[in-house]
Amino acid sequence: MSQDRPPLNNAELLSVLDWYRAAGVDMAVGEDPVDRFAQRAPAATPQAKAVPAAAAPQPAGPVGGDPTQARQLAASAQSLDQLRTILDAYDGCGLKFRATQLVFADGNPDAEIMLIGEAPGAEEDLQGKPFVGRAGQLLDRMLGAIGLNRTKVFIVNTVPWRPPGNRAPTPEEIELCLPFLQRQVELVAPKLVLTLGGPAMQTVFKSKNGIIKMRGKWEMLSIGSHKVDTLPTLHPAYLLRNPPAKQQAWRDLLALKTKMVELGLA
Ligand code: URA
Repeated sequence: MSQDRPPLNNAELLSVLDWYRAAGVDMAVGEDPVDRFAQRAPAATPQAKAVPAAAAPQPAGPVGGDPTQARQLAASAQSLDQLRTILDAYDGCGLKFRATQLVFADGNPDAEIMLIGEAPGAEEDLQGKPFVGRAGQLLDRMLGAIGLNRTKVFIVNTVPWRPPGNRAPTPEEIELCLPFLQRQVELVAPKLVLTLGGPAMQTVFKSKNGIIKMRGKWEMLSIGSHKVDTLPTLHPAYLLRNPPAKQQAWRDLLALKTKMVELGLA
């Protein structure tokens, strides 16, 4: 705080924290507070002393991992358990250093149907499981509507750590995590994949198209070395914000159900 202001009392400090939280700030980027007022450039008088700038907060993890190393590590996993252990020890993606824990997967590893979301949020970060917050609860209801539940599907995300403040993962972070996602798909070898939302669709389909254009259309994709029929649909978080879009998501769920029946999975 500025030198000429009295320090904030506890109630004031709490209301500042509340204000930060309401604005979506839910993490600190450095150990020590930085007094930005003290950093203001002094007036250019002969007497003015330069105020040393405080050191900018440094990222807590390595910057710029190596995608080749990620691919080699992912390929070396012979089981999902091994992959989880390898991913947990992997330090190449900076997201890990801001997250509480790895959010590897949830559901049945022997499932014929795999769901791919974007990235863990706050609740997932705390529980270590994908889709356990409000969007996850809606996802469970959507699955229930076509006779599915978490014993019948396997759920993962394009990145397995929560991006700080729920920002979108960067293309570099996605590239570093993609080999691990692909290996998850190879090891589970599902018959059908459902991607949830635009970012997951763009990663898995290697597309720049929007989800509204792509949703509801099956495509046979190679995810890693596994060929699988894949359907993009809307993200449940989007449906929470846009309830009328549930109509389109319902069509996609019915398309999934029809395909399950055709393949003898339902
Ligand atoms: N949104 C996602 O894309 N994944 C989660 O795990 C939770 C919310």
